[in-house]
Amino acid sequence: MSGLVQQSSAVLQAKQRFGIVGNAPALTAAVERTLRVAPIDLSVLVIGESGAGKEFFPKIIHAYSPRKHAKYIAVNCGAIPEGTIDSELFGHEKGSFTGAVASRKGYFEEADGGTIFLDEVAELPLTTQARLLRVLETGEFIKVGSSEVQKTNIRIVAATNVDMERAVAEGRFRQDLYYRLSTIQINIPPLRDRGNDIALLARKFAADFAERWHLPAISFSDDARNSLLRYRWPGNVRQLKNIVEQMALFEAGNTLDTDAVRHYLPAETSSLTPAIYNPSNDAYKRERDMMLSLIVNLQNRVDDLEKRLATAPQRPAETNLIGSHDIASHKLNKHSIKDLYHDEGSDTEVIDTPYYTNEEPEKPTPSSTPETLEEQERRAIADALARNNGHRKLAAAELHISQRTLYRKIKEYGLD
Ligand SMILES: Nc1ncnc2c1ncn2[C@@H]1O[C@H](COP(=O)(O)OP(=O)(O)OP(=O)(O)O)[C@@H](O)[C@H]1O
Ligand SMILES: [Mg+2]
Repeated sequence: MSGLVQQSSAVLQAKQRFGIVGNAPALTAAVERTLRVAPIDLSVLVIGESGAGKEFFPKIIHAYSPRKHAKYIAVNCGAIPEGTIDSELFGHEKGSFTGAVASRKGYFEEADGGTIFLDEVAELPLTTQARLLRVLETGEFIKVGSSEVQKTNIRIVAATNVDMERAVAEGRFRQDLYYRLSTIQINIPPLRDRGNDIALLARKFAADFAERWHLPAISFSDDARNSLLRYRWPGNVRQLKNIVEQMALFEAGNTLDTDAVRHYLPAETSSLTPAIYNPSNDAYKRERDMMLSLIVNLQNRVDDLEKRLATAPQRPAETNLIGSHDIASHKLNKHSIKDLYHDEGSDTEVIDTPYYTNEEPEKPTPSSTPETLEEQERRAIADALARNNGHRKLAAAELHISQRTLYRKIKEYGLD
């Protein structure tokens, strides 16, 4: 059969165990390569676009290695402030900096004998890169504020979605460390190159969300399926998951045709730069308006249903006709919309944006003071996060700030 490669039972098992959906040859090859290198104690660099599914691979490596009973620690190098990253990774001595009231073990000590996953490795500051190189070469490290050399035995799996050779050429990443980390590279293919996997994933996510929310499942017409296959998916599997999540909510029980699917897909630009990265593109606004009108429609239908229930004499008022999880039983104010989106297992982060509410909106009083710069900044960040479904990397790119700055601001403004 064209497009299908023979998959060993080990590959199929690993996919099943980790919930990896898809049979594209390049994805299968990545899993196969991962299984092959897992038992051998080498550093591995996982490369792939944002949202492509890189996070499965360090887990597979750890689980199929002799280190599987020791610790596995995942560190997002882009999320830790530059000032504390050395201390987080290597620990510190009491009194080594203001606030260091006690000594602390770092991840390299904690995970001794195990695996550390360095996600977004290109974000590591140069000083930390030097420490990391030393620990990789000699197994030695020194806690911040200490002079004592300690030993550790760690396997590193790193991941990145940036062009590392360019980062090296621009002096942002040490060449020696890059070579050291990338002894073995595993490339995760972008979703747009995975053909029918797109349909498989859409079906899987549709079924998952229907089950999670107790809603009738959505399905796709053949044409709709083809539209999904033709789309470029700049945000890869994460974007597909988010979009199917919206469809599962607003189209519950429907078979979506091409037009319905297109409604949910952000407009594609002619350049390779996806629309979601381009803040001057008004695709966001259109998408938001569309969401708003969908929610208003839904509210009207709920109101209508409520009226009909209230006037149905044959049913006692307390009869619960609609399951407590059913969308129709929610009063659609900002809280219930948030509840519907919020789920621990989902990587959609919910920003508490009042898309629509029955409550009378708070009108600014004539005496209200204009927004301060800080308020404006907070709002710009909250808006960017909402537009990007809470995805911080995309929001940072849109705001033209580093991810680290964005994480700091999110904390500062309590937008967590
Ligand atoms: N083949 C797949 N089957 C099922 N789910 C997948 C697959 N690939 C990715 N996902 C899901 O898509 C989401 C994004 O994947 P993941 O977090 O691994 O992306 P990533 O490559 O690490 O992106 P980033 O560079 O932005 O961190 C996750 O919820 C993940 O479970
Ligand atoms: Mg990731």
